[in-house]
Amino acid sequence: MSRSNGVLPSAIDAIGDTPLVELRRLTRGINGRIFAKLEYLNPGFSKKDRIALQMIEEAEADGRLRPGQTIVELTSGNTGTGLALVCAVKGYPFVAVISKGNSMERARMMSALGAEVILVDQLPGSTSGQVSGGDLEVVEKEAQRIARERGAFRADQFHLQGNPHAHYLHTGPEILRQTSGSFHAFCDFVGTGGSFAGGAAAFKEYDPSIQCFLVEVAGAAVLAGEPSTRPNHRIQGGGYSMPVLPLIAAENVDGHIQVPEEVAIHVARRLAKEEGIFAGFSSGINVAAALQLIAGELQGKTIVVLLSDSGLKYLSTDLWQ
Ligand SMILES: Cc1ncc(COP(=O)(O)O)c(C=O)c1O
Repeated sequence: MSRSNGVLPSAIDAIGDTPLVELRRLTRGINGRIFAKLEYLNPGFSKKDRIALQMIEEAEADGRLRPGQTIVELTSGNTGTGLALVCAVKGYPFVAVISKGNSMERARMMSALGAEVILVDQLPGSTSGQVSGGDLEVVEKEAQRIARERGAFRADQFHLQGNPHAHYLHTGPEILRQTSGSFHAFCDFVGTGGSFAGGAAAFKEYDPSIQCFLVEVAGAAVLAGEPSTRPNHRIQGGGYSMPVLPLIAAENVDGHIQVPEEVAIHVARRLAKEEGIFAGFSSGINVAAALQLIAGELQGKTIVVLLSDSGLKYLSTDLWQ
């Protein structure tokens, strides 16, 4: 997203162009490099600001979204926060439908940004802080009902091409510019798969030898074809045990990495203590996966990861003790 050095006309013009930082402390003594894109520095403190803007602007451009029409979306919080801030600036009413299993910082932030937040109960037996695919199905039904009732536009991040487009058009090219194209691999923890899909498409178009890996929580690695024995893990933002993600192009997947959730959490804490990077659970799993790759099949190589959101979003969870 091209940003001038002068005064910007709105907060949405501050989306994107995030810094890329080498994790030199975490990789000390290891033969390999990790470059981390600080997506938590977006105005809504996550990479999802990018897709919110892209999905809305694509729908405005082709007439699917009318001026003043209500926008509804199912969200784990970050997409909702992005949509809330884009809707605030552009003047659309926004309804966020969110599972009660997500951390409440996110719901509060969306309300503060002017969204109507509808909290949906988790399934009986589900645990707070652990949103399962089953929990999400219930939230999806509720989002569909509200969208019908209000004649709203669904900013459906699991299907709209605006999601991967944001990363194909912006995040990926920014990384290629920042590295002058010299890195070997990209690994990404998957929720909708939009970041993986858009990033991988941009990287492979530039250089088909850049390897792209899907990251999943051990025990919930359904994309790798494993049975889901741990659908209720703690890595918020993804890993919903959905075996099919329509946004992901199979030909761009070079491999699958699985990380135990405890390792992901340990690495998120190390990111804060050793690198001064205060990011969320999914940033921990991405860096843990990259560490796994340079310790194994990608020794001596350089890996790019996204640090998807801020640690501030998890102050009420056990990520920080
Ligand atoms: C914190 C966080 N990490 C990772 C993801 C997964 O990203 P994607 O949906 O692009 O696969 C999300 C998606 O909501 C997220 O909020």
